[in-house]
Amino acid sequence: MTDLAGVFKLHDFEELARETLSSSAFAYYSGGAGDEITLQDNISAFRRRRLRPRVMVDVSMIDPSSSFLGTPLPIPVGLGPTAQHRFAHPEGEVATSRAAKEAGVMMCVSTIANRSLEDVAAVGDAPRWFQLYIHRDRGISKAMVERAVAAGYRAIVITADLPYPGYRERELRHPVVYEGEAAFGNFAGIVDSEGAELLQLLDEVVNTTVTWDDVEWVRELSGLPVLIKGILTGEDAALAVEHGAAGVVVSNHGGRQLDRVSASVDVLEEVVQEVSGRCEVYLDGGVRRGTDVAIALALGAQGVFIGRPYLFALAAAGEAGILRALELLSAEFVNALGLLGATHVRQLKRTHVV
Ligand SMILES: Cc1cc2nc3c(=O)[nH]c(=O)nc-3n(C[C@H](O)[C@H](O)[C@H](O)COP(=O)(O)O)c2cc1C
Repeated sequence: MTDLAGVFKLHDFEELARETLSSSAFAYYSGGAGDEITLQDNISAFRRRRLRPRVMVDVSMIDPSSSFLGTPLPIPVGLGPTAQHRFAHPEGEVATSRAAKEAGVMMCVSTIANRSLEDVAAVGDAPRWFQLYIHRDRGISKAMVERAVAAGYRAIVITADLPYPGYRERELRHPVVYEGEAAFGNFAGIVDSEGAELLQLLDEVVNTTVTWDDVEWVRELSGLPVLIKGILTGEDAALAVEHGAAGVVVSNHGGRQLDRVSASVDVLEEVVQEVSGRCEVYLDGGVRRGTDVAIALALGAQGVFIGRPYLFALAAAGEAGILRALELLSAEFVNALGLLGATHVRQLKRTHVV
């Protein structure tokens, strides 16, 4: 059993996960596209930034709480949509969902999760968004959106950066082996996914025909706020607003899609300026420290999501691992707020970062 008391930073979970995961599962979780330039840059771009603390402020009471599209949350950090949690835990996304519920954080559930969106929701009432890959057969997506609404998901996050899967060399070198129950829970009874290879399923799911018109379609269909994930330019952020998006997620899919696109934090301000308060802006990619969260918020993000760190934590120590990861990030964030001279997330300002 992993000794969590000896884990002091999110990075530590990666090495622990390497010991427990098969080489193919580790390759799937950790890898990026091409030369992994964007993957590395997501981390280095945060590291390049410096903070400008303000002193002589009474910081005896610090409140790190926030809200995502109006839902109050204890910290401005959520669990981003990632596929295939069963590599890390036999109960897959249900284990993740229990941890998210206990911590009270937002969880965004993937279309290509192993467990169905209903199984995840059955863990109990908690803030959840559903991530949608729009299927080339719109009837399949329509049914999935309706199920997400019925199961109490509070928003639909359309992932826009996967018209084709990224060229991920680590996955080619260590092909993922799907055994037994490697089902894609949301597709049970819809496509023959039992024992299917991920790439085979992606070929069904991945859709080269998704356009801005689909945003209005999903909005009307669901009656829920819709966010667009995978925005990397001011131009597309403006289009997202024009098509009624309630939010955008500045993201390069954790460096897994097009290599050599900018680090998320490097394009955050461009997007924030373009939308100018017309929708909420979130960021994912490379968030590993409380100071990263503070930087993203100071640059205008409403909140951030993490991906790999919680997958590694789940693999290393199950639900307790995810809870420890969130506890560390939260404690670091509170510490950063206090040392920056801010008592609340709203006090984080552009002038805190250079
Ligand atoms: C193993 C893995 C699977 C992922 N699966 C999905 C997915 O199904 N849908 C999606 O929108 N994004 C997916 N992503 C991207 C994440 O939502 C997120 O953009 C990325 O992990 C953030 O970067 P980070 O890992 O550096 O925190 C996945 C990422 C990883 C690492």
